Amino acid sequence: MTPTRTLSWDWYPGAIPDNVTVDETAFVETAFSFFLYRSERPEGVRIGRGASTYLGTMFDVGARGRVTLGDYALVHGARIVCDAEVAIGDYALISWNVVLMDTYRLPFDATERRRELERVAWRKQRVFAPASEARPIHVERNVWIGFDSCVLPGVRIGRGAVVGARSVVTEDVPPYAVVAGNPARVIRRLDPEGGDDRVP
Ligand SMILES: CC(C)(COP(=O)(O)OP(=O)(O)OC[C@H]1O[C@@H](n2cnc3c(N)ncnc32)[C@H](O)[C@@H]1OP(=O)(O)O)[C@@H](O)C(=O)NCCC(=O)NCCS
Repeated sequence: MTPTRTLSWDWYPGAIPDNVTVDETAFVETAFSFFLYRSERPEGVRIGRGASTYLGTMFDVGARGRVTLGDYALVHGARIVCDAEVAIGDYALISWNVVLMDTYRLPFDATERRRELERVAWRKQRVFAPASEARPIHVERNVWIGFDSCVLPGVRIGRGAVVGARSVVTEDVPPYAVVAGNPARVIRRLDPEGGDDRVP
């Protein structure tokens, strides 16, 4: 990152926001990933050692939101919708078109939703006001999430678990489980002894 917080290889002319911490060994492909970023927290995003975010990754983070990306975690084009907290652990691997959302943002009531659509049309930033309580998402260490999957508010995906492509994860996933489908269900279990738990 340059002293003005731009990226020398970037096609997009924007800068990385001041309250985003990027480890000097991490890779951010483009500052466009922060086009929807509005966090006002002291540190709204932290990207760890050796971690990477590639083209297509979008930090859609509201004023109170905070996203952390652990060491050597890799996000290959996910949309992270965050009004509270999305914590992604070390060595997590998140494939393309994955959506992690800790909030639905819009009201369930049809009349309220119509009013919000009317209001957003006149807002300068054209973003929805949070309408439902956000519930943090935790993606633990060494998790692998397949492409086109969706992780809903409040979900914790346990260490070493695998989420199959195009899954909708509606509830917690136990450590070392392989889940798939909509809603995602356990299809088999991995052996913790043979994997991540042996590594410090
Ligand atoms: C989840 C995954 C890893 C499981 O692989 P696997 O353990 O070899 O699973 P199998 O192919 O033996 O399938 C086991 C069962 O789960 C089902 N299944 C597997 N993946 C599924 C998926 N993504 N969605 C729904 N069902 C799935 C299979 O149909 C099979 O069902 P059956 O027992 O009724 O026949 C793999 O299917 C997958 O989705 N990989 C995605 C990888 C990816 O996104 N890569 C992007 C690059 S990072």
